[in-house]
Amino acid sequence: MNSLKKVGVLGIGSYVPESILNNHDLEKMVDTSDEWIKSRTGIEERRIAGTNESTSDLAYIAAKNALEDAKVDASELDLIIVATMTPDYFTPATAAIIQHRLGAKNCAAFDLSSACSGQVYSMVVASNFVATGAYKKVLVIGAETLSKVIDWTDRNTCILFGDGASAFVLGEVEEGYGIKSFDLGADGGGEYALLVPGGGSRKPASEETLVDKEHFLKMNGKEVFKFAVTVLPETMTRSLELASLTTKDIAMVVPHQANYRIVSAAAKKLELPEDKFYMNLNKYGNTSGASIGLALTEAYEKGLVKKGDNLVLVGFGAGLSYASLVLTWSK
Ligand code: ACO
Repeated sequence: MNSLKKVGVLGIGSYVPESILNNHDLEKMVDTSDEWIKSRTGIEERRIAGTNESTSDLAYIAAKNALEDAKVDASELDLIIVATMTPDYFTPATAAIIQHRLGAKNCAAFDLSSACSGQVYSMVVASNFVATGAYKKVLVIGAETLSKVIDWTDRNTCILFGDGASAFVLGEVEEGYGIKSFDLGADGGGEYALLVPGGGSRKPASEETLVDKEHFLKMNGKEVFKFAVTVLPETMTRSLELASLTTKDIAMVVPHQANYRIVSAAAKKLELPEDKFYMNLNKYGNTSGASIGLALTEAYEKGLVKKGDNLVLVGFGAGLSYASLVLTWSK
């Protein structure tokens, strides 16, 4: 008999900064147009954190919202994982900052670095602690302030990204519900497709790295696009097979919100109607590690997710990396 506990979402929440930057604002900053951005990506506007607003500030509010939704007190948390590629600092972990701000005593905390796949990676890591009975309640946060690592003169990247945070409280759920399967992977051969070259141990911060703008995110958009349209259907198919489900059993797919054309191509390959994919990137752009939770929170708050629905959460991004999981909604 399988003695592992069933693990699902007890609560969910999100937060985005107030300031909106729309495509027309970007037309005044770089050589681009609202029409180009909308037709190539589906993005209309994105949120931008204030000068004094960091990733942990957004993460903290999303975490409070998820805890409230779960009716779980911070003191009950055993572990906090923050998925981010824009932490407050190199060290300490942003998760430790959140742990202190929430007053979550007796709680482990660490960050997980897997860019836009990070939130699904973190959910899988967290779920294993709960499944084995080692921990009872884990908070998983995806939070980003990509606006702080974007070169606002580079039209290849600055039109795509936005800031935001989302959070899940994971814990034991009834038999028949919760996370059914997952598929995680990486292809580090894609190291240069999406990276911040400067400021790390490969190229420590120097006058030269600053002048060469190497502290900003660099991207080979075409390479990432090709990777995404290939791995998205592949990883979803593997997760569904592991859960003994088919696409017909799926109520909703919540993909990483990078580009509607990536989702369109994946939908076609999977022979799934596009409207099965919940999208809100038109309002928030690509919020990397936060995007899946940001979309799922919105769908849940609109009443579009019902108890018993089979959902697929699927991410892909820098690494290159990918992650998917199948979940039967238990709330
Ligand atoms: N505005 C106007 N024109 C532009 C812009 C812009 N912002 N950017 C590029 N162009 C031009 C190009 O110069 C090119 O012009 P040319 O034909 O005269 O040479 C033309 O538009 C087409 O450029 P492409 O790069 O071929 O455009 P494409 O259709 O590939 O779209 C995009 C570019 C949107 C970046 C796409 O490749 C993409 O979405 N890639 C995936 C990126 C992604 O999702 N990254 C995040 C991953 S998640 C993570 O881990 C953070």
